[in-house]
Amino acid sequence: MAVPAPQIEAFFDDPTNTISYLVSDPETRQAAVIDPVLDYDHKSGEVDIRSVEAILKRAAEEGLTIVWALETHAHADHLSAAPYVKAKTGAKIGIGEHIKDVQKIFRPVFNATDLNTDGSDFDHLFVDGETFKIGNLTVEVMHTPGHTPADLSYKIGDAVFVGDTIFMPDFGTARADFPGGDAKRLFNSIQKLLTLSDETRLFMCHDYKAPGRDHYAWETTVGEQKRNNVHVGEGASEESFVAMREKRDATLAAPTLLLPSIQVNIRAGRFPEADANGVHYLMVPVKPKTDAAGHALGL
Ligand SMILES: [Fe+2]
Repeated sequence: MAVPAPQIEAFFDDPTNTISYLVSDPETRQAAVIDPVLDYDHKSGEVDIRSVEAILKRAAEEGLTIVWALETHAHADHLSAAPYVKAKTGAKIGIGEHIKDVQKIFRPVFNATDLNTDGSDFDHLFVDGETFKIGNLTVEVMHTPGHTPADLSYKIGDAVFVGDTIFMPDFGTARADFPGGDAKRLFNSIQKLLTLSDETRLFMCHDYKAPGRDHYAWETTVGEQKRNNVHVGEGASEESFVAMREKRDATLAAPTLLLPSIQVNIRAGRFPEADANGVHYLMVPVKPKTDAAGHALGL
């Protein structure tokens, strides 16, 4: 019996270069939203819902029932709109079980005393190899760590939503230098994806246009990645990949929305509790230079 094919619609978020997906079962009209973006302007603190509303509008037009808001990982470049999807549709928020490791790393960084590091802010923590249903579609969960410890790829029929495990062939791969990230693990996770059949479709979570490409792109295949990926394609070894990745990562600046994203996304998209005045604040941990005796300078 043929595996049912999902209906897939992509939504590109220009400010963060993120691609969110609306994935649905054509038979039952059940659907999932993968990696929804909450609009957030760091200069003004303004939060908006226009990006996620565009997805919900499409779902309504198509008569879809959204049952899952799926995160591929705790993103460092945009805030998750999963709680909004949940509030509007009753969908459950799912992420990989190793989000607990990410929470343990960042709870002290943000002194997030309201945060339990058991993943309980999420509705479901997926384990490697777990399967679940979106209508008649079967989703297979693949743990693909390296970019972060918790990254998942969701395989639905012949389509895999890879998060930041790999980028388009002409761009290569994502950084592996966030706390808990590891270039060697990333290489091995990519190899796991590349054992899938050549015609398997891969859907990226980000695209930045590669040099010489004038348009954004987010869909490719396993075969294409094996032949042409500039970091892990034909002839790439684990050793050469790790050396390349670590050298390159050392030159990359922190993403613009790193601090707001992490402190919201480790709480499953929940903002820190409001202060006594009713305002929600995001935190910037200040990192002063120190002198030889360890005293902070400038504070
Ligand atoms: Fe990421």
